[in-house]
Amino acid sequence: MKAVEYISQKIKDVPDVAVILGSGLSKLADEVEEAVKIPYKEIPEFLNSTAPGHAGELIYGYVNDKKVLLMNGRFHTYEGYKPADVAYPIRVMKKLGIKRLIVTNAAGGIRTSFKPGELVFIKDIINFSFRNPLRGPNDETEGPRFPDMSQSFSKDWLEEANKSVKEKFGEPLESGTYISVLGPSYETPAEIRMFRKLGADMIGMSTIHEVIVANHIGMKVLGISCVTNMAAGVLDQPLSEEEVLEAGRRVSKHFVALVKHIIEKTC
Ligand code: HPA
Repeated sequence: MKAVEYISQKIKDVPDVAVILGSGLSKLADEVEEAVKIPYKEIPEFLNSTAPGHAGELIYGYVNDKKVLLMNGRFHTYEGYKPADVAYPIRVMKKLGIKRLIVTNAAGGIRTSFKPGELVFIKDIINFSFRNPLRGPNDETEGPRFPDMSQSFSKDWLEEANKSVKEKFGEPLESGTYISVLGPSYETPAEIRMFRKLGADMIGMSTIHEVIVANHIGMKVLGISCVTNMAAGVLDQPLSEEEVLEAGRRVSKHFVALVKHIIEKTC
């Protein structure tokens, strides 16, 4: 993998954890010490990030003495990319020696008790994209043909992270099931009512392909959604991208403090 060779030349050590920053959640990037920034467009075999609020760079450095690799901006299938390409950076991370992945995203709140700006752990995921990044020949050196997804998000890591959140911030986070759709149109109120019946608590257009590949190659995953808006039909108002980015910005201080704390205590 040319991307692995290229990135290895730029970073000094194996990161303790990789973090994918979702829409409007890029402020953690400013907190990285001794930051080495690698724009995606410099990296051989890497895609370019076109979604609003996604910078398109890898950042290596230190967060509270832990070595991190941030993906500041991710890829989505609604941009026209193939699921396997969207998740390709996860394979690169594993080849760099990284064993743990924190995925974050902006999400619509399906559970009506959620409030815009609330951070929620992802405890499970529904693949409603009807696509899979593992479709096609399987490379047995990477992982099994039929990977287990019964702990697609590590239960132990979530418990440990939430315990440390409670100690530091007084309250644990809620956790919920994230349903992943293709987008890019937002959902209709009827779809959201259906998804609620199916057991979904949050909804978004990312994450699933990265999580499937991480499980394929044996990486541990922790997920955090930022509920940026109530899902369609919950409130009598239209959804907008600006609302999503604005809520991300509003919560960014708390988000940064929370993720830094989780990295410090559990990675
Ligand atoms: N639906 C889908 N994706 C989203 C939403 C939503 O309501 N909010 C942020 N990402």
